[in-house]
Amino acid sequence: MITTTGLTKVYRSRGREITALDGVDLHVREGEVYGVIGQSGAGKSSLIRCVNLLERPTAGTVTVAGQDLTALAGRGPRAGRELRQARSRIGMVFQHFNLLSTRTVQDNVELPLEILGTSGRERSRKALELLDLVGLSDKANAYPAQLSGGQKQRVGIARALAGDPKVLLSDEATSALDPETTRSILHLLRDLNRQLGLTVLLITHEMDVVKTVCDSAALMENGRIVESGTVTELLATPGSELAAALFPVSGDTSGHDRTVIDVTFHGDAATRPVISQLSRTYNIDISILGAAMDTVAGRQVGRMRIELPGRYEDNVVPVGFLREQGLQIELVGAAALASAPVKEGAK
Ligand SMILES: Nc1ncnc2c1ncn2[C@@H]1O[C@H](COP(=O)(O)OP(=O)(O)OP(=O)(O)O)[C@@H](O)[C@H]1O
Ligand SMILES: [Mg+2]
Repeated sequence: MITTTGLTKVYRSRGREITALDGVDLHVREGEVYGVIGQSGAGKSSLIRCVNLLERPTAGTVTVAGQDLTALAGRGPRAGRELRQARSRIGMVFQHFNLLSTRTVQDNVELPLEILGTSGRERSRKALELLDLVGLSDKANAYPAQLSGGQKQRVGIARALAGDPKVLLSDEATSALDPETTRSILHLLRDLNRQLGLTVLLITHEMDVVKTVCDSAALMENGRIVESGTVTELLATPGSELAAALFPVSGDTSGHDRTVIDVTFHGDAATRPVISQLSRTYNIDISILGAAMDTVAGRQVGRMRIELPGRYEDNVVPVGFLREQGLQIELVGAAALASAPVKEGAK
């Protein structure tokens, strides 16, 4: 639904060049909620602004719903109309809502329809329908100043939906809101995604946002995507930074000569008594250093950090047993180093 290839953005300011995007290949499938997470300055806003061509990419292409937006923009001022039309099919939600304070809620939602040249009657019908959809039918005549932050963002979302977009882009839509309100806005986005088949690309620096609503996620660092995939795939990827951040387990080893392992349980592996089998089969005492269950991307996942007596070399067989049980195993600390395959040619 959204594809970028080699997307690059270099800002030039006061003789200096800042590479905000450095060859980003992004692929967002139709109907999914896709989260891009990264630290401040990673290039997240630049990415989303390049996706709807609010910002002109320095190089690379952007395709949304099969239309090459970069090609449209490349054809000079006369392509303006086509690009505007294409852009009206992409809704955008902002961190600070960007509502016009002198207009009522309804008039704010009608604004994009005015720009599209929709008739007054149709505008009004559509605006009221959208306000109903976001749960604000009773606020049509209120002014933004009379609304809470969460309500303002609902208006922002209704406005973003005015052009019947297939795609919704959201830049930190919840980061000005408290946790409770954040949850309600995220649920609204999730509902809209399901009800309208809307593809959502959202930018955030909060892991909880990714955990609550995203089907897929990408991690950005220094203008590049360093990890990406469906949340389920990421959780199954050993060494994934995103997986560790999405679902952290902690717990320190009790001393030297111990093997520390993170075990991830998905699906039916979670219900089998694997740890007690391990203990009985190999006659070893197992300490649990940390454990948690959580729902990630709508699925139950469990993680546990366990400690076995002895170094990794002494525990190769028990670790193999856990792997055979279909569990995802990650060695932690010294064990991870000991088990790392020696690279070809490395001395
Ligand atoms: N208009 C601009 N002119 C010059 N440099 C810019 C411009 N916009 C962004 N940058 C620079 O590009 C880099 C990426 O900025 P961007 O706003 O995309 O980051 P971000 O990941 O959205 O950060 P945040 O989480 O703080 O919003 C930063 O180094 C920033 O200073
Ligand atoms: Mg930003």
